[in-house]
Amino acid sequence: MTHSATQFISPLTFQALSGNPVALDLLDADEENAMGHINLARWADIVLIAPATANSIAKFSLGFADDLLSTVFLATNCPLYIAPAMNQAMWNKSVTQENIQRLKSNGVHFIGPESGDQACGETGFGRMSEPNDIVIALLKNSKNSILQGINVLISAGPTREPLDPVRYITNRSSGKMGYALAEAALNVGANVTLISGPVNLSAPHKLQPINIETAEQMYHAVLSRVDKYDIYIGAAAVADYRPVVCSSQKIKKQADDSIIKLQKTRDILAAVASLPKNSCFVVGFAAETDNLEFYAKNKLTQKNLDMIAANWVGKEQGGFDKDENALQIYWNSGNKSLKMTNKTQLAEQLISLIAEKMNEKNTT
Ligand code: CTP
Repeated sequence: MTHSATQFISPLTFQALSGNPVALDLLDADEENAMGHINLARWADIVLIAPATANSIAKFSLGFADDLLSTVFLATNCPLYIAPAMNQAMWNKSVTQENIQRLKSNGVHFIGPESGDQACGETGFGRMSEPNDIVIALLKNSKNSILQGINVLISAGPTREPLDPVRYITNRSSGKMGYALAEAALNVGANVTLISGPVNLSAPHKLQPINIETAEQMYHAVLSRVDKYDIYIGAAAVADYRPVVCSSQKIKKQADDSIIKLQKTRDILAAVASLPKNSCFVVGFAAETDNLEFYAKNKLTQKNLDMIAANWVGKEQGGFDKDENALQIYWNSGNKSLKMTNKTQLAEQLISLIAEKMNEKNTT
């Protein structure tokens, strides 16, 4: 934080909210050689200045190094990003634009600013880009973009199979894993389409899910577009059976017992994997209460998948509707355990394994 930044928000608040130490001073007495700025400059993979004022940008452009921030900026060799935030008149001044051009020609990346209402009451260019947009821009440009430009189709959540206008058969899937996978894939540069059953989740930023209810609707949503995708991840808990008859009127209570006749739904995952000239990397899920490895490997071979991610359900820990999970991943020539962690981290690990195995498949 610069001295000015600490006047808006206290370092303690920043530290508590981010859970990270906040560096303020150029010479850090706690560092062994009092060279905190050099250590920070060496340590960083990316330096992002957000929000960057006109004053900071002017300093960076001229190579000033009179506080910790400008010194780290000058001392580091990692990629540099600036997300400007300033009054529109300051942004439009030719001196500011010259500073920006000079930085750009030295390889510094700019994210934003956007046009809109400003804190000073004026309207125009100078609003800092939304934090989520900054993160996406950073990740897209970074060396972590392992799925840059790759098209990924993900199905998530449960399906609902109606019995009549008010009742349906469904399952306990929350959709959390599928949504976390969509976010993780986006964050490493993929173009993601999410096909979602009914869930109580907000979609990742700028992603508009295709909402469906039944297994048949999910089948059509997936099969009508999957040929344009490089990866299909079937994370949805698709109903295996649906009622043979869906009554158009509410079914009335009559006999003491009643039988619902069910028919099999179409297997979406198997259908994708068996498409002729299929070049898509197909990943399935297997939620099991017993014989996890046996059933998962069976599904891998019977459905002709590239990979399957298996997890226990109905146990105390993890599984459906939980924030944490553990996965056993199997592919034809190997397997890997991803240990119990939150679904965000688990999704990141699974996405990087998928990227690795897809590259291996495409290069053999
Ligand atoms: N799946 C699918 N379409 C179906 C049923 C399942 O695409 N009609 C997919 C799921 O999205 C998941 C995988 O198949 O990726 C395995 O689903 P799961 O319910 O664990 O297994 P099933 O094949 O349905 O077999 P079973 O229910 O007997 O375990």
